[in-house]
Amino acid sequence: MSPFEGTLVVTIDGPAASGKSSTARQVATRLGVRHVDSGSLYRAVTAARLQLGDPPELWTERSVLDAAARVTLVPGETTFEPRLDGTTCESAIRGEDVTGVVSLVAKMAHVRAWVNATVRATSAAHEIVVDGRDMGTAVFPEARLKVWLVAAPEERARRRVLQRTGRAPTAVELATETADLEARDRRDREQTQPAPDAVWIETTGISQDEQVGRVVALAEQRR
Ligand code: DC
Repeated sequence: MSPFEGTLVVTIDGPAASGKSSTARQVATRLGVRHVDSGSLYRAVTAARLQLGDPPELWTERSVLDAAARVTLVPGETTFEPRLDGTTCESAIRGEDVTGVVSLVAKMAHVRAWVNATVRATSAAHEIVVDGRDMGTAVFPEARLKVWLVAAPEERARRRVLQRTGRAPTAVELATETADLEARDRRDREQTQPAPDAVWIETTGISQDEQVGRVVALAEQRR
């Protein structure tokens, strides 16, 4: 019998900047369960490997896996969060240096296996909302609810600039951000796939509250 048979697992997958993590965090709060951001583990491994100081072109998969051994996923009050050498690393993993090379690390098959096993093992005994790219396909194919969030690249780019600057983007910012997101979509395409039984939520034109409300309602039906 699967260890998740009696446990609520909600997966939220989708492309970059589709609002997965903020949605997953709020859904988890409303359901009273913990949130797991699987992308934060790829980021923490990347931050650990960057500390060695040599250029990413020289990184072997073995050396990245060695760096992963310094990363743990630790239960907090509302999340499971990555720690690097036992210390919180939230601000380090959100920096441009990590964002620029994390896709390279996320392509490594053994690193993917390590992240997937870590997420599965750590959350096995807990109800969770987990977000990423392949949580509903590779990691929790038996999840009670799988959500696939979609939004056009321009809409995701607009939200991202708004989040960073607090105002609407200029035409140039919108074009640059859209191109950047499309490049990231191409880099991550292979592992970014909806599960065949995922519920698709098109988020363009609906508010964050509405988006969260829809996922919570679906999760409650299936709990
Ligand atoms: O969602 P994010 O930007 O924090 O993800 C960081 C990187 O990790 C990005 O390149 C996509 C990748 N990723 C992945 O391949 N699989 C996941 N489950 C989560 C993230």
